[in-house]
Amino acid sequence: MKFAGKVAVVTGGGRGIGWTIARHFASRGAAIAIADIDGEVARHAARELAREGTAALGVACDVADEAMAASAMAQISSMLGGIDMLINNAGRHLLRYAVPITQLPVAEWRTMLDVNIIGIVNCSAACRPSMRERGGGVIVNMGSIAGIAATNCYGVSKLAVRGLTVGLAKEFAGDAIRVCGIAPGLVDSPAAMAEMPAERTASFVRDLQLVRRQGTMQDVAHLAEFLCSDEASFITGETINVSGGFPLRP
Ligand SMILES: NC(=O)c1ccc[n+]([C@@H]2O[C@H](COP(=O)([O-])OP(=O)(O)OC[C@H]3O[C@@H](n4cnc5c(N)ncnc54)[C@H](O)[C@@H]3O)[C@@H](O)[C@H]2O)c1
Repeated sequence: MKFAGKVAVVTGGGRGIGWTIARHFASRGAAIAIADIDGEVARHAARELAREGTAALGVACDVADEAMAASAMAQISSMLGGIDMLINNAGRHLLRYAVPITQLPVAEWRTMLDVNIIGIVNCSAACRPSMRERGGGVIVNMGSIAGIAATNCYGVSKLAVRGLTVGLAKEFAGDAIRVCGIAPGLVDSPAAMAEMPAERTASFVRDLQLVRRQGTMQDVAHLAEFLCSDEASFITGETINVSGGFPLRP
């Protein structure tokens, strides 16, 4: 129960990787707030955690909306007693964004960048006062290995997440807030699996990774747990890949 007495906020925590992290952190004793644009799914997820004995709150929050992010974090902080950990997981990643850079309509670019980048800025800024009051905290930003080559809008947004992780780590260090990033490879969230044709998923594992198995949401949750723990108290500003060695394969 390494997170007993701690409060974690998971954005986009109603489904997929975020929900897996929320459940995993709850199993380690944390109180959990789920902030998701889909308020119904956030409340449902919180009820499920509460049934298992976790102090949990589900809040409707579009992370791209500065005022909404501020009011969600204030509500969470006052209802759960503060915020120690923020997992900036909410993100858009639909395959429709995976087109050549100049072929994506500008409105789509703006939506993607608003959620994947500005969303992190909004939620991090909104959590900072509570973390400062509690003597420090940890922020984990969800990047992607797509940010290594950054050949499309999604990849560019995730490359920016790496930069934001460094910048926020520097800016928040004076408040004893560490900021780290996770860059998953392809993992088995229902959304990713539904989008990706089965043959493409198989060839990703077979031809692009060093570790020949499908990456899982639990793989990501374990890394998030480590980065938020005291064992990682000397790590900040870093983004760590959890990708089965994806970029290393010749
Ligand atoms: N699945 C993968 O293979 C993979 C790989 C690398 C990175 N990622 C990243 O991990 C994160 C989660 O991915 P997933 O596959 O679980 O996605 P998902 O689509 O299953 O879940 C995303 C959640 O975020 C919520 N959300 C979307 N826009 C939001 C907004 N504006 N404000 C608040 N909540 C919002 C959705 O309602 C949903 O509950 C994303 O940032 C994604 O880019 C995923």
